[in-house]
Amino acid sequence: MTTILTPTRPPHAFGRLAKKDLLTIQQLGASDVDTIFATAAELKKNREYHNALLKGKRLAMIFEKDSLRTRFTFDVGMQDLGGSAVFMDHRDARLGQREAVKDMAKNLERWVHGIVARTYKHRAVEELAANCGIPVINGLTDYLHPCQALSDLFTLHERFGSVKNRRVVYVGDGNNTCHSLMHVCALMGAHITVCSPEGYEPNARVVSEAMIMARESGSDIEIMNDPEVAVRGADAVYTDVWASMGQEDETEERAAIFEQYRVDEEMMALAKPDCAFMHCLPAHRGQEVTSPVIDGPNSIVYDIAENRLHIQKAILVLLMGAKA
Ligand code: CP
Ligand code: NVA
Repeated sequence: MTTILTPTRPPHAFGRLAKKDLLTIQQLGASDVDTIFATAAELKKNREYHNALLKGKRLAMIFEKDSLRTRFTFDVGMQDLGGSAVFMDHRDARLGQREAVKDMAKNLERWVHGIVARTYKHRAVEELAANCGIPVINGLTDYLHPCQALSDLFTLHERFGSVKNRRVVYVGDGNNTCHSLMHVCALMGAHITVCSPEGYEPNARVVSEAMIMARESGSDIEIMNDPEVAVRGADAVYTDVWASMGQEDETEERAAIFEQYRVDEEMMALAKPDCAFMHCLPAHRGQEVTSPVIDGPNSIVYDIAENRLHIQKAILVLLMGAKA
């Protein structure tokens, strides 16, 4: 098939993702992820070329929590594609406090073509999506972080060619980042081991969802508590902060509980020699990861951060670009 590229139409636009929401990886099939990866690769290769794909399109960015990467890459991504973004700082008030989330959604859909929301409660992004006809993208909730997971796997896909049968080991808190990583690995056939202290394992519902997806993709899902056992033979070791946004008052208590789960050179030495080190960032050096590991030759943390831009541009084009 010949692919004709133009500044307004990449090879994968106008597909089945048009007008859809992206609240969880569970809304995607493996072929959707392939489409997102192929589109991201094209947009990455020809960054200057596709500068009119979202011409005239506006994105609302509603953030209840701090952000560097998500905020910046969605905003720059819209500018790269010829559109624009309006940032709505919601850090001082939860969604629904001033007016019903439903009313907010019904106003925004009259003005913009898509919404990215970063909220505490996952229910808030679901409520936005249920009450408007424009795509709503999850920019992180307490429960899930799907855009991050897509960028994580895309970066591994670039490094390894295929993620199928690669072993990703997540060491740390069974949090939002971990949940979406489990979903995407299970969907795409990468093996995923999660190693957390007792009581901090991933949500049981996410584990069973991942297991169901794994039946089809052939990936192995393992949940354990011993990091020395977990990281043996890993192709990638992933960690995230021990206390997420909203859990700041548990920081001290968690630091003691997670002490054995710090990713250091000794732990990385148990994995494969070329094992990649992954982190969604922001990182707390000396806590969940040591500086020699995050600054080491196998760290791909800045590649992942770079790919947030390309993956999210692909998501924006595929969800919002149908009628460009
Ligand atoms: N990884 C990530 O989502 O970073 P921000 O919190 O800075 O957006
Ligand atoms: N688990 C972290 C991820 C930040 C990108 C948090 O929710 O704070």
